[in-house]
Amino acid sequence: MKLLITGGAGFIGSNFTRMAVNQNPSWKVTVLDKLTYAGRRENLSDLEDNSRFTFIRGDICDPVAVAEAMNGCDAIVNFAAETHVDRSIDDSSSFVRTDIEGVRVLLEEFRKEKRNLFLQISTDEVYGSVESGKSREDDVLAPRSPYAASKAGGELLAMSYWTTYETPVVVTRSSNNYGPWQYPEKLFPLFITNALDGEPLPLYGDGLNRRDWMYVLDHCRALMLILENPVPGSTYNIGAGEEYTNREVTDGILAATDADPGLVRYIDDRPGHDRRYALDVSSIKEKLGWKAEISFEEGLELTVAWYMNNRAWWKEIKSGRFKEYYRVMYSERLGNSRENR
Ligand code: NAD
Ligand code: TYD
Repeated sequence: MKLLITGGAGFIGSNFTRMAVNQNPSWKVTVLDKLTYAGRRENLSDLEDNSRFTFIRGDICDPVAVAEAMNGCDAIVNFAAETHVDRSIDDSSSFVRTDIEGVRVLLEEFRKEKRNLFLQISTDEVYGSVESGKSREDDVLAPRSPYAASKAGGELLAMSYWTTYETPVVVTRSSNNYGPWQYPEKLFPLFITNALDGEPLPLYGDGLNRRDWMYVLDHCRALMLILENPVPGSTYNIGAGEEYTNREVTDGILAATDADPGLVRYIDDRPGHDRRYALDVSSIKEKLGWKAEISFEEGLELTVAWYMNNRAWWKEIKSGRFKEYYRVMYSERLGNSRENR
């Protein structure tokens, strides 16, 4: 198998690339990644000397870079995306460009040859906020943030290529991931690293929004199974069913890092903040026999240990342009915050 992984220098992409190369001695793996603020070459440094691994820096919206990277490949897994909801609220332009137009460029190059699988990584956020019950694959999509709407556009476009051209597309919608190599703008790595630094933990609104948390390697295992058993035209939810409020996650992080609970601050809410996501994953369980294997407690412990042992990685990120991002996003809100309660 010759596999192209786009966005392979980001959080989930780098975990998946490592699994794909290390578990499949006959596979050749190429990563195409623009290395935006979220993508880092060092996330894949352990693969640099592997002769079955190639890294290309390039943009999925650039047809020339895409043609070079896709040359001779049998399958593609597309992780490349702008991914942070708060950034999409600030400016949605790069989200529409990469998460929709980028998918179109990839699909056009892909369908020039006969290939096995176009795996489009989507998100549970396309279902919108789910007050009760669990989202099923055939539910109506109702995205509410510019990020979620762009991801919905990307996956709908991909599936339209299956309907129209019989391009062998599979779409996956995963719940929130956490684990090693996650850029410290997201809840888990931001709160773990802030707790380790004795900095405030800024909880949005009442802290009671709920997410369905999955350890990243469980997600990667599910994707590997789909690659090995491709059924074009299918869509799979992928989630661990570990539903917690943000306050519960925060309390877990405080305990695991042995940090002062007084660090918690309640700050102004994210506009349009989705209250809850929850996935029905019976389809992937029944069809592929997949289920999450790492419990929330175990995953949290592994993740905190990774951030404790890889301080240089996140310290470098947090001392660079991240500082300006953090100031713009948080300093005023933290100034108006309410203390832990
Ligand atoms: P990430 O932000 O950590 O990584 C995104 C990667 O894409 C980075 O390496 C970045 O450099 C690259 N990229 C961005 N724009 C690009 C472009 N135009 N061309 C080439 N590369 C580009 O994201 P992640 O958390 O690893 O998410 C990966 C995928 O999984 C995304 O499609 C995301 O929507 C989806 N997803 C993520 C989660 C989650 O909890 N993190 C949950 C569900 C779905
Ligand atoms: P996030 O990691 O941004 O993922 P998503 O918005 O895609 O689900 O946020 C997870 C939850 O944590 C979400 O309800 C927003 C909340 N959150 C905070 O309360 N404070 C923060 O600083 C961040 C980044 C997120």
